Amino acid sequence: MSDPHLPPPRFRNGLRELLSKRSLSRIAWRRKRHAHSPAVLAAIVDDVKAYAPDHIVLTGDLTNFATPEEFAAASVWLRELSPPQGLTLSPGNHDALTGVSGADRFTPWADWLGDEGESFPYVRRRGPVAVINLCSALPTAFYLAQGELGASQLERLGAILQAAGREGLYRMVLLHHPITVGMVSWRKSLVDAAPLRETLRRHGAELVLHGHAHAPTIAMTAGPAGAIPVLGAPSASSGAHGRHPAARWHGLEIERDGAGFSTRVVARGLTADGGIEELGRYVLA
Ligand SMILES: [Fe+2]
Ligand SMILES: [Fe+2]
Repeated sequence: MSDPHLPPPRFRNGLRELLSKRSLSRIAWRRKRHAHSPAVLAAIVDDVKAYAPDHIVLTGDLTNFATPEEFAAASVWLRELSPPQGLTLSPGNHDALTGVSGADRFTPWADWLGDEGESFPYVRRRGPVAVINLCSALPTAFYLAQGELGASQLERLGAILQAAGREGLYRMVLLHHPITVGMVSWRKSLVDAAPLRETLRRHGAELVLHGHAHAPTIAMTAGPAGAIPVLGAPSASSGAHGRHPAARWHGLEIERDGAGFSTRVVARGLTADGGIEELGRYVLA
């Protein structure tokens, strides 16, 4: 699931707070309140819990302006969704808009980022699956929503993909931004998507998951032995009649298949009558 854009905590301290960055966050969210519904998100979360997944992955934009209050509220929400060992989070551009710079930025969410590694990409193993967690979130001007991985993250990603591939693991790569051309505008793009695709082409992966586009998308990127599927989830809080496609999440059912794996995608989401239902299922070759 992706892009919950949780509602910012309410004002408590009057005018001073109203003039602060956290008021910007509240105003920005209120402007989009018809787009992001807490009731829809709650229904999606209930549906995910009923599915009882082995692991949840969440591709960013928990907050709107990354204020300390939003980070704290998001931590509470995360903890209610799953214990840290059951959920891996890749942050989004909205989670980096304000606040401390550098590697400490996501310390409040450290438990949900991964088990192995000193910094992104973190790795988490669950059975035959290696969840490889990149961070494309970086501080940008308010009118931009770009992402960047940076050379050192890409270099470490190459080594991780190579080692996990040698072990025969299912390499599930997470990041917030889409990686294929034309999925989002330049203003919202991953600036080093081309070197990321080149790293994937050289070393391979079984699946890439992202959010950010607020749309259900599927694409392919080249790998060393055929195409790698790239799957995007819409916002988990999108209403049925907003500018963006309605909320959904993807159940990923991974099985060994000969020397490799097969991945069945079960798409579940909001229908026009307000319920959450299965929208379809397909197998990624
Ligand atoms: Fe988003
Ligand atoms: Fe985003």
